[in-house]
Formats: sequence, C-alpha cells, structure tokens
Amino acid sequence: MTKIDVFSKDLPALSTPLVLAVAKEGKELQVPTFPALRDFARAAGVTGKLGEVNRVPSPHDFSAAFVVFVGVGSPKNTAETLQNFREAAGNVTRSVSSEELAFSFPTKNREEVLATVEGALLGAYRFGKYQSKPTKTLKTLCIPAHDALSDTERAQLQTTVKAVTRVRDLVNTSPSELYPESMAKAFQKASKNLPVSFEKWNYRDLKDQGFGGLVAVGKGSKRKPCLVKLTYAPEGAKAHIALVGKGITFDSGGYSLKPSTSMVTMKSDMTGAATMGAVCLAAAEMGLPVKVTAWLCLAENLVSGNASRVDDVITMKSGKTVEITNTDAEGRLVLADGLTMAVAQHPDLVIDMATLTGAQRVAFGTRIAGVMGCQKDWIRDASVAVGEPAWTAPLPEYLLEHLHSDVADIANSSSKREAGMLVAGIFLKQFVGDTPWAHIDIAGPGFNTGSAWGYTPKGGTGYGVRTLLRVIAEMGR
Ligand code: BES
Ligand code: MN
Ligand code: ZN
Repeated sequence: MTKIDVFSKDLPALSTPLVLAVAKEGKELQVPTFPALRDFARAAGVTGKLGEVNRVPSPHDFSAAFVVFVGVGSPKNTAETLQNFREAAGNVTRSVSSEELAFSFPTKNREEVLATVEGALLGAYRFGKYQSKPTKTLKTLCIPAHDALSDTERAQLQTTVKAVTRVRDLVNTSPSELYPESMAKAFQKASKNLPVSFEKWNYRDLKDQGFGGLVAVGKGSKRKPCLVKLTYAPEGAKAHIALVGKGITFDSGGYSLKPSTSMVTMKSDMTGAATMGAVCLAAAEMGLPVKVTAWLCLAENLVSGNASRVDDVITMKSGKTVEITNTDAEGRLVLADGLTMAVAQHPDLVIDMATLTGAQRVAFGTRIAGVMGCQKDWIRDASVAVGEPAWTAPLPEYLLEHLHSDVADIANSSSKREAGMLVAGIFLKQFVGDTPWAHIDIAGPGFNTGSAWGYTPKGGTGYGVRTLLRVIAEMGR
C-alpha cells in the first residue's frame, strides 16, 4: 500500500522526482508555482492536454532526479476539475515507475486534494501475481504540507483504494485459482478482522433449500456453486442496504456455448460479487452508520454431462419457474436467487451489480455503466460525482412479453436481440417485489480490454466501488 507523506521544502530543493500539473488554458500554458518553468515546459513539448505525461530531466536550479509535467486539460466546472485531477494523477503513477514522487497540483480545496491523491493511489496499481519480475510501483506519495491529510481522510482513502485493489486482484486472478469456493474463502478470511459476519450456503444447502437458479447455473462444474452472505450491522444503523453481486467465476456460456473470442475475459464475470463483497468490508472498516448485507452469488458456468440443458425448466428460490432458453443468460438466474434472499429482509434499498449483458457494452461503451430500476437517478448522480459515470435506462413493462414461456412462468432469455440490457433488467425486476431497487450493468466498464487510461489499468478496473461507498455514506447522513 502506498504511503502518503508531506514535503515542506520548496520545490527546487526537493530530491524526490517531481510531478507538476500543467493546465491548458486557451493558448497559454499554466505552470503552477514557478512561472519561469513555463518556457522550460514549452520547450519540452508540454501542451497541458489531459492524458499528457512528459518526463524530462530537471531544470538546472531544481534538485529532483527528474520532473514530470502532467496535463490536466481545461476543466470547465468543479466536477470536471475533480475528475481531471484524478485522471491526471493516475496517468503519472500508472506510467512512471518510480517508488517515490512529490506532487504539486494547483488544488484549491480539500475535495481537489483528495481527488488528486485518490487518482495517484489508484493509478499506482500493478498486478504482478503471475509475472516473474513484477514492475516497480509507487511506495511513497509526497504532497505539499499545506495539503496534508487528516487521519480520517487518510484512512478513508486508503480503505477505498484497498477495496478497489481487492476487486481488481480478484478479477485478474486466473479462473483456475478463483472459483466459487476459493472466492468465498477469500472473503471469509478478509472478514475475520472486521465487524462483518460471514455465512455460506454450500451446494447441498442450495439444493435442499430450493435455490434453483444458483444450482442450475453452477452444477455443470466440478467446482460447485455457493452463496455467501456478509453482514455488517453497526449499532444504531441509520438504514439498511442490501448488495447483490453476480459472481460467475468463469462464463463459458454453458451448452449455449460462447464463440471462443467472446469467452476471453469471462474470468471477469464475477466482478459484481467481488465489488459487493469489497464494498461491504470497506463500509465496515470505515465504520459507516449503515447496515450492509452483501450477497455473493457464486457459480462457474461450464459444460458437462451434469450441466443444465437448454429447454430445462427450473424452480427458483422465489418459487417462480423459469424455462432456460439460453444457458448463457446465467447471470440473471443466480442474481434472482440472491435478490429473493435480499428482499426477504426488507432492506431500505437493494442494489445489484453484474457484468450482465453484452448489450450494455454495445449501448454505453466501456467506460459507462447502465443503471436501471426505481432508484436509478440517485445512483447515477452518485456515480457521476465520484467519476464512475453510469447512465440511466428505463425498464418498460411491455418488454416482459419478450420473456414469455409456453411452459414456465417466464423464460430466461428472449429470441429477439433488441433491448438486451433492458430485458435482463426486466427479468430481475420480477424478483424484487416492492423493495426500492437499482440494477447496475457493468459489462462495459468492469473490465478494460482496451488501453489503460487515467487511473484505470487494463483488466479489472474496480469500477463501481466508489459509487457504492458514496451511496452508503449518503444513506448514513
Ligand atoms: N457475462 C455475459 C455478459 C458479458 C458479455 C459481460 C461481454 C461482459 C462482456 C452474460 O452472461 C451473457 O452471456 N449474456 C448474454 C445474454 C443473452 C444470452 C441473452 C449476452 O449478452 O449475449
Ligand atoms: Mn453468459
Ligand atoms: Zn455471464
């Protein structure tokens, strides 16, 4: 974990590699603190554009080993400033492999300081588990003494970053190592030192107690499904939120087998569950005054003589029967059982998160999630505020016709391709009843198959963690 330190010397006297934020304002370069640096920066080709990172030898009168000019663009409002600082800081720590960096950003308030540090810490992430020579990363981040963090600020930030890191690590782990049982174990272990209780339904329990969705999806694998419940219930909690996560540790599609190119990255199909688990632990570590129940719906969707068939009819935990018309629409089956359990406790709010549909990715791309359900506007606002923008989508009732089944109460997939993200949401809605609910489809932003950018690495992104922590914090106010 990166340490956060302060420097009190003047910038030219620092020996730590120096990061200077440069803004692009009209045609003028804005180099903070030392206007004389402007010519130096211009000569180095610095333009101040967001995304730009220029590493150059120190000017003569500076003692740092090298200087990094990082562009912060020309933000037009408060929200943009926060996000640009976050991304710019991440651009540096992601691309410069130095164990120590001193940051000088033109921060004007606490929020801007926190955004900068958050971006720097998130960008310093490396996944070295399978590399014989893991790359170096930031060990100490130095910020100006006048920006120094309070103990609470530091603790909150470190906890948030730890949660994002936990999700990224789990997502990036080889699916040969990460399967329902091992993922459950990881959360059991992590919950031990926190006021979080851990409960688990094994395959036997799931069969005995009628979890038809989890059983149908997970039974084809030798590594059987399980359901994990994490509970953080602080005394005097102001509200209760239930978090339900899709935890498919590998999605082959089952008998509705995915084409080989679509199967690549399907180790990431457990991102929703990893996020919900990590957020529950982080809420406990922060001591937020809200009860959090996380339901991790864990299964591996494989093919075998014991796997579900297309045409099978199953009975869900709620009692509803479902005709499986596509074994690759498995996420909604495991989530439905989790949602049934979640709403039975009558929480104030249920949120589910899932890498649910390719349609989400097609509609909103790889940086924006889709948020649906009756609480969608609130979640969108929170997501935009933390720089993890989700966009809302409707769940019109007439789409339920697409899930008509001749033999069961409902089918799990539609024969039509239209509105795939919404149809999946409509399916889930059948299992939430009257409880306030939001569904977040993160098929796009959960896993980065493109280039790294800002503080977002390739692979697992940890998208959504900070949105949910903000929602929980708001519920505790
Ligand atoms: N896990 C996939 C969705 C997905 C696709 C996530 C691409 C991330 C990237 C999900 O289980 C799935 O296969 N959905 C199907 C649903 C269809 C069969 C109704 C899809 O989107 O094609
Ligand atoms: Mn699938
Ligand atoms: Zn899936």
